[in-house]
Amino acid sequence: MEPTFVSGNRILRVSEMAENLIPSEIIKLGGEIREKIAAGEQIYNFTIGDFNPAIFPIPEELKSAIIEAYQNNETNYPAANGQLELRQSVSRFLHTRGGLEYSEDQLLVAGGSRPLIYAVYRTLVDPEDKVIYPVPSWNNNHYCHLSGAKGIPITARAEDNFMPTAASIAPHVSGATLIALCSPLNPTGTAFSRTQLEAICRLVLDENRKRKETDKPLYLLFDQVYWTLTHDDNLHFDPVSLFPEMKDYTLYIDGLSKAFAATGVRVGWAFGPRKVMDKMKAILGHVGAWAPRAEQMAVAQFLQQDAALDRFLEDFTKKLHERLHGFYQGFTQLKSEGFAVDAIAPQGGIYLTVKFELIGKTTPDGKKLTTALDVTQFLLNTAHLAIVPFSAFGASRNNPWFRISVGTAKIEDIEQVLLNVKQALSQLQ
Ligand SMILES: Cc1ncc(COP(=O)(O)O)c(C=O)c1O
Repeated sequence: MEPTFVSGNRILRVSEMAENLIPSEIIKLGGEIREKIAAGEQIYNFTIGDFNPAIFPIPEELKSAIIEAYQNNETNYPAANGQLELRQSVSRFLHTRGGLEYSEDQLLVAGGSRPLIYAVYRTLVDPEDKVIYPVPSWNNNHYCHLSGAKGIPITARAEDNFMPTAASIAPHVSGATLIALCSPLNPTGTAFSRTQLEAICRLVLDENRKRKETDKPLYLLFDQVYWTLTHDDNLHFDPVSLFPEMKDYTLYIDGLSKAFAATGVRVGWAFGPRKVMDKMKAILGHVGAWAPRAEQMAVAQFLQQDAALDRFLEDFTKKLHERLHGFYQGFTQLKSEGFAVDAIAPQGGIYLTVKFELIGKTTPDGKKLTTALDVTQFLLNTAHLAIVPFSAFGASRNNPWFRISVGTAKIEDIEQVLLNVKQALSQLQ
């Protein structure tokens, strides 16, 4: 283990948990990209699951509501479970847009969705409890580490659009505490079909029927932060809409960040059984992970403006769609020209899954590409394209699939990037 801090001769030891925590792989990659950009290189940086506000600004109505909230001096502590106005607004939003019935006391607000995911883990999981999650997926490995869980990664397959199947989860449900799912999924941009999600819900219900009333049930964390951003005729499915009995076991994670390009506004919400929400509230209260009060009041107001929401979401999803499909078609074309690439049709969210089967190939300067990280470096250095390998989402070091995030992509970038990729690939032996 590397000593983290050294003061004189003293190694400042920290907890085992902190010592062994792996920092975000994506943030690490970001440092190198920033260095290249600072050195004047034109880099197409599609690594971060974020938006360039010059391309994707937050809704005007939201921005003015935030300013107004500060002018109204909404600057003291917010309510521990979130401002009532916001919880009422979210409850209405879930009802009108998602057909879900959750009252304000089944809702918990925090400073983005992340603290809520952490709180779900801390509330449900005891050390060594089994948590099942698909690979690739976003950050479940880290939340398992933070909570001391025994992570059970399930490798999802390209032929299933990288969504986990009930058949792959089934062997692990006995004795498990939590299944962590996300749809539309980060990093793949794919989503559950009705039948896929139904089969997983049946597993959860069957397993819970087998457990005694005094046992901890098998819970489902359902992260749907991209649910308003589905494309084409892909519908969003969620556990409780499919099976009302799932309500006792499902913890939804949701929020403003991705749905309204508002990652820096920091407002997220979770909903589920009241007892679990109350415990999560107690944990987050000690952490102090509340969303700023002014932002909460603003979001409460904004979510009631149905026409503004429609206008924003229509334009936003159209722009995302143009970019995702632009890249998708470009990669499909390159594949048909014989290049070692592939892509999976995007279904929702802000990501596209692309394949670069380059391991084993040699660069013009004689370097053999042996890992996904080598391929990442090659694309960065030669095509000036920065993307994230699935190995950063828990997949193996030589997994050939990558995530392209389009939240920072200009429409005119697409052609240039595809040209750069084609030229780069043509140089490989
Ligand atoms: C699936 C998923 N859930 C949650 C989050 C975190 O969202 P927030 O910015 O609201 O904390 C992200 C961010 O990338 C995500 O991809």
